Formats: sequence, structure tokens, C-alpha cells
Amino acid sequence: MAKISSSTIDEVNARTDIISLIGEYTRLERRGSDWWGCCPFHNEKTPSFHVVPDKRMYHCFGCGQGGSAINFVMEIEKLSFTEAVVQLAKKTGIEVVYEGANFVQENPLEKRKDEIYDLYSRTSGTFHFFLTQSDMGKFAFDYLISRGVSKEIIEKFQLGYSPSDRTWLKKFLLSKNYSNEFLNESGLFSKKYPDIAFFSDRLMFPIFNRKNQVVAFGGRILHGEGPKYLNSGEMIQYKKGETLYAFNFAKETIRKEKSVIFCEGYMDVIAYHQAGITNAVAPLGTALTEGQVKLISSFVDTVYLSLDSDDAGQNATYKAILLCRKLDLPVKVIKLEGGKDPSEILNKFGLQALTNAINDAIIDSDFLLSALSVKYNIGTPDGKTKASLDFFPYVDALSSDIQKDSCLEKLCQTYNLKPEAVKADFNNRENARNRIQTSSINNNIANKTEEIKLNAESRAMLAVVANIDYFSQMRNCLSVDDFEDALARDMFIALEECYREGSMNYDAFLSKCTDERVQKIVTKSVISGEFTSSPETSQQTIEDCIWVIKKNSLERKRDRLVNQIRQCQGNTLEEQQKLDLLLNEKISIDLELNNRKKKDAIG
Ligand code: UTP
Ligand code: MN
Repeated sequence: MAKISSSTIDEVNARTDIISLIGEYTRLERRGSDWWGCCPFHNEKTPSFHVVPDKRMYHCFGCGQGGSAINFVMEIEKLSFTEAVVQLAKKTGIEVVYEGANFVQENPLEKRKDEIYDLYSRTSGTFHFFLTQSDMGKFAFDYLISRGVSKEIIEKFQLGYSPSDRTWLKKFLLSKNYSNEFLNESGLFSKKYPDIAFFSDRLMFPIFNRKNQVVAFGGRILHGEGPKYLNSGEMIQYKKGETLYAFNFAKETIRKEKSVIFCEGYMDVIAYHQAGITNAVAPLGTALTEGQVKLISSFVDTVYLSLDSDDAGQNATYKAILLCRKLDLPVKVIKLEGGKDPSEILNKFGLQALTNAINDAIIDSDFLLSALSVKYNIGTPDGKTKASLDFFPYVDALSSDIQKDSCLEKLCQTYNLKPEAVKADFNNRENARNRIQTSSINNNIANKTEEIKLNAESRAMLAVVANIDYFSQMRNCLSVDDFEDALARDMFIALEECYREGSMNYDAFLSKCTDERVQKIVTKSVISGEFTSSPETSQQTIEDCIWVIKKNSLERKRDRLVNQIRQCQGNTLEEQQKLDLLLNEKISIDLELNNRKKKDAIG
């Protein structure tokens, strides 16, 4: 965007009523010529924030924030200077004039972003049309309805369906006069085959920025094989770590209620919003980042965590608690009983169940103490030590000594520990941790006699780990369900997490492997270089590994089908149809297996 003329800026400053502007965010009361209120940027009970209308300035004695109306909008809406001026100009009905005669000469980056917004919103509109108005999207629409998603929500979130014909989108957009070069780089098409749409035959979730512009997509699989969700990659208009799904819909409520609900995914956010709980947002296929928490940190005095109740969700909850506490935000954890995530709860038990779950949310320290007592055997001294050691990082993250003390006290009471011992261990937590680690290493040495047996799947995964940069190809072809071997599956899940976080390296990978044996065999194989390929052969290695697992998975599926076919009598018409389906499925699996065999024979 070009530079805004100083006359426009002056006019915006002059015409903006700073009292009513700020009054939208916090309640102001007049005292003499100034106005006072609680600061919208930090937590406080007694007002230290004041606005001086004569000077058209605001200032907070508590946190030091201050400036003009434009600064206020920049801070509170997290906008750039230019964006804030444009927003205020709109509000006060001022026409924005740009500097100099060459106002056409726009910043190329901004211009490109605008073109992308335009392309994405058009694409999103088209997907929405397919979902709601076309025959081919009808099954996807029915799917949503069957999961209890309302029509209003489908409208509000602009949900869509991407056509299964992968060549359709390119042809359509070319006919709308977008250039081929622009489209190839737009993130909507495969990098390798730029005429092929990245998303096809999926339920589409447009991702909006705070200004309601579509900046990316997530696409959920509805049938067939492949990753459950595909997500747009990062681009100039889209930084995952600084974007929250549904923040555009949630920000008003977040500000009003001074609280936010972080959930795990698209469907969870949608469940909350449909239940009328509109301060729910989610990170985008990655763990919560500091950048995302900072988006809301100045508005809220409670963060609710509503992550899945499975192990992965519980781990993510632990990390999110530490992150939020480090940013000085109080946290409560929403416990979901009778379902794995909010979307399931809403479906099974209705709106009230979700509201109740929020009201019953427990404070994070209580949540941790109870979760850790389940994770470790709290009846033994060793278990107590381990649980305490996992609790200490939480205590560390707290900002005041009073809070730290009272949490340590709670720890003593809950686990029935001696305060002096806990204090000593806390002050000496690094040593205590090493002690525990050495003792578990000793245990491992004692167990070493049973060598870990590696089957074909886990050997294949070790080779993928050794060629970690090629993992993206594997995730395009396989999903967790394709794995039979637990070790191999653990490696796949850890790699997938690294991939979504954009940190494809061994440190990140090892920290994500939950199975101790995996850590051991991976370290050993990486160090020995047993599975490392040369750059020329990596591509082949990956393809072979994918096939090892795919083949296993197909063969298992085939066996299951054969069993089902055997059991199917075929007496009724219904059974006949079912039998046909099963036979067709089996034929297509046989084909896939045979094709590959032929290819192997030739190559
Ligand atoms: P879930 O598997 O819990 O999906 O992943 P969900 O949103 O609850 O969807 P339903 O209810 O099963 O249909 C949680 C989030 O993790 C990311 C997505 O953002 C998803 O919403 N994810 C999951 C991916 O990015 N890729 C995947 O393959 C799976
Ligand atoms: Mn889920």
C-alpha cells in the first residue's frame, strides 16, 4: 500500500472521538477533564488507564501503554499503522488520500497480497457453492448435517466442497482471467503438477484473517485414502504460527468476556460456536504457539483449554499451560466427559453439556496434580518424585513468588509430601531430575538382554527417519491407519507432528517419540548410519519404504475383505449389493498390488 498523506492522518486524528473509540473496549468514567478506566491491555482491578481528550492521548500508569487514537487501534486490533488509519478513516467517513501523484505505484508485496485475497475469496465462494447448491457436493453437505452442523454455521464459516475433478479449478480460474503464472504460485495447486488442484474431493474450511479475508484452507477427507486433513502451506498472506482459526468470528466475544477457549481443530471450534459459545479458536494443525497466544493475551484474564481427551491432547494441554503461564495468563482446563472432543460432546449430549463443561473447568494446577498422579504411580516414592518433577516446570512458569509458594504447598498437600523435602527438591530440581534419569538408564541397561526385533515396517520407518527431508512424500501417500507395527506408527506420528510444526530435525523428532524403545533404536541407527542413503538414492528409498507399508496395509485390507466376502451369503438383494461392493473393492486392491508387482518386474 502506498503512503497515506499527512493531511489524511491529521484529519483522522482530529475527527476521531477518542473517548467513544476507547469506550468500546473498556468502561471510562469522567474525573475532571480526564477519563479513567481499567486498562484494556493488561489485567487490573483498579483503574490506572486514562484518556486525555484535549491532547487526544491515552496512557496507562500500570503497563506503560500510551499514544494516539491510531496507536490505540494498532495495538488493540493488532494492525499496521496504515491499516489502522484506513480503519479509522472508514469509521469517520474520511476519504484516504495517498502521498504524491504516483499513488498507483503500490508496494508490490501488498498488491500481491490483495490479489491473493481476491483469488482465495473467489475460490472459497465457489467451494461453498458446490457444497450448498450442487449435486456433487450434496454428500458432503449431508455429512455435515449428519454430524449436527447447522445451516447457519455452514454459512457463517463459509464451509465448502472442493470438486473431485482435480483439473477443474485451474480451468475455471483461467476462464476468470487469472494468469497461469499467478495461479501456479498461488498455493492452490500442486507444485509438481501445476494444473492439478491441491485440494480435491474434500470438505473445505476457509481460514480467515482478522479482517475476514480468506488466507488459507484446511480440507478434510470424506472418503478414500490419504491424510485426514490437508492444510495450505505458509505464504506471504498466511503465517500459521500467528493465525488462529475463527479469530475473526471470536475476537468480539474474547474481548467482551475477557476469556478465550483454545481447542484442537476446526470441528471443535465449530461445535462451540454453534452452541453459542463464540470465544473458541484453534491453532492450525500445530501445537499452540507463543505468537498465537500473544494475539489474545492483552484481552483476556482467563484462558480455557479444551483439547482432546486422548494422550496427545493431554500432552498438548501440559505444553499449552506452561506457554500461557509464561505469558502470565491464568488457565483453566475444560474436562470432557463421555466424548473425545467438543464436537462429539455437542452431538451426543447437546448444547447444555458444553456450557456445563466450561462452568466446571478446573484450574490448571489442580488439573496437573490430578493428571500427574494418574500418569505416575503416586503410591510409591519414585512416582511421587517423578510427578513432582513434572510439576516443577509449571511452578517455574508462574510469575510471582506468592503463586509459586502456594502451588508448592498444594503439591505437598495433594501428594502428602513433606514441605521441606519438596522445597529442597524444587530448589535442586536439576539434580533431582538427573538422579531420576540415571536410575531409569540403569533400568534400561538391566533390560538390555531383550534386543528389540525390527520388522519390515519399522525398518522402513528408520530409513525414512534417516532421509527425514523426504517425509512429506510419505505423508501424502499414507495415514496412521496404514501402520500395523506400534514402533513404526510411533515414528510416523512423531514425524507428522514435526512436519506440521515445520521442524524436520532429529531433536524435534526424538522429543516427540513417546516410546522409549523408539528413541533407542533411532539414535542407534542414525549414529551408525545404517539407513542413510546417498542423495541420488534417497528418492528411491522413500518410494520403497512407502510401498513396504502400503503393501502391508493393502494386504491386510484384502484379507479382511476376503473374510467378509466369505461370510456374505448373497441371499437377499441387499446382500447381493453388499457383495458387489466388497468384490469391487477387492478387485481394485488386487489391481493396485499387481500393478506394482509388474512395475517392479520391469524396473
Ligand atoms: P482431529 O483429528 O481431532 O480433527 O484433529 P477434528 O477437527 O476433530 O475433526 P473431526 O471431528 O475428527 O472430523 C484436530 C486438528 O488437527 C489438525 C486439524 O487442524 C484438525 O482440525 N490436523 C489433523 C491436521 O492438520 N492434519 C491431519 O491429518 C489431522
Ligand atoms: Mn478432534
